[in-house]
Amino acid sequence: MGASLSVPDLRSNQVQRNDDAFLRQVIKNGKGNMPRFGRDFSEKEIDAIIQLVRSFATESNEKAQAQTSRR
Ligand code: HEM
Repeated sequence: MGASLSVPDLRSNQVQRNDDAFLRQVIKNGKGNMPRFGRDFSEKEIDAIIQLVRSFATESNEKAQAQTSRR
């Protein structure tokens, strides 16, 4: 479903290399097929969503590290 809508993987470097200001901008105003959430969430809620998106990176990096150390 995500892939067919060309929704980017939030764990990926492509997303994680962006700074918080850019992530905030995309969450609030949308981008391409991404809907805008600026009217649905307060600034504080968007802060929390950015933290959540950042936590996805940590999870996948930990998995990647676990895989590397097994080899
Ligand atoms: C609160 C929930 C969501 C969050 C936190 C979120 C977050 C993001 C972020 C951070 C990006 C930017 C990636 C980048 O350009 O590096 C993005 C892009 C995108 N999102 Fe979401 N998203 C959410 C919900 C959705 C939903 C519900 C849809 C589809 C109905 C969607 C569709 C897309 C698409 C298509 C893009 C790519 C836009 C483009 O590059 O043209 N997102 N999203």
